[in-house]
Amino acid sequence: MSLTAYVNGHFVPMESAVVHIEDRGFQFADGVYEVVACFNGRFLDMQPHLERLERSCNAIGIALPCTLDRLAELVQQTWSENPFPDAMIYIQVTRGVAPRSHLAPENLLPTLIITSSDLPRPSDAKLAKGARAITLSDFRWKHCEIKSIALLASVIGKQEANRRHADEAFWLDTEGHVLEGCSTNIFAVIGGVLVTHPLDHQVLGGITRSMVIRIAQEAGIEVEQRAWRLDEAGLSECMLTSTTNAVLPVCFMDDKPVGSGVPGPMTIRLRQLVLQSMEALRSA
Ligand code: PDD
Repeated sequence: MSLTAYVNGHFVPMESAVVHIEDRGFQFADGVYEVVACFNGRFLDMQPHLERLERSCNAIGIALPCTLDRLAELVQQTWSENPFPDAMIYIQVTRGVAPRSHLAPENLLPTLIITSSDLPRPSDAKLAKGARAITLSDFRWKHCEIKSIALLASVIGKQEANRRHADEAFWLDTEGHVLEGCSTNIFAVIGGVLVTHPLDHQVLGGITRSMVIRIAQEAGIEVEQRAWRLDEAGLSECMLTSTTNAVLPVCFMDDKPVGSGVPGPMTIRLRQLVLQSMEALRSA
């Protein structure tokens, strides 16, 4: 399939989809983004993703170049131009183009790009064995609730994970609490309770995280949003969540098994429930 991208009001072939070298996204990482999954042309939680994009824009003082309804139409059109059965829609908004200066001129026209590509998914082998992860002390900025395109810390974290033959790096605060991964949220099962760090400036409010909390509660699973550590008594499972992974077991942390070192029953159950929601979209 030859790919088409949306760039500032036009659909263009991917090869000629370019932005200016003085785009503030390029020079200052002055922008925000979203990743939305799409199954057979139906988007998973489109509205919460677009609302999070709007919140990220508001937080850094960028006015979205169109309404959320118009943005939803553009996302739909971008998928129609690149109709992957399971698609990953990438939306990026930057402050716009201006001669390089930290202080941006007022009233810049924001840059908006949207692409649609094949949704990357964990392999069957990864699902069967679970992911391996490392921990790193958090050296990111203090506004992780904003989905910023400034991802250098996450890139370095992933590189370090890869160097140590792991799939993800999870950030720890100074007291050893597990916050989130470079591109994922994380849950633990502690004494049968599903636990995840509360929403604050140290974690992104993942759309999959919210979905898992809702689905777990509907299934009668107790959920606690609190700071937690890997060395807590009764910790039997860990799982990561994100748009591209849905729910994925994490079976090794810093080369030590999590619980029994194989995907646990609550992780398997929650993954199945989340996949059912995706399947329902696919066949709707
Ligand atoms: N990453 N935490 C961080 C730091 C993330 O970058 C992401 C998403 C998540 C999970 O959010 P969600 O469930 O809304 O996908 C948590 C995306 C997928 C990415 O950067 O590719």
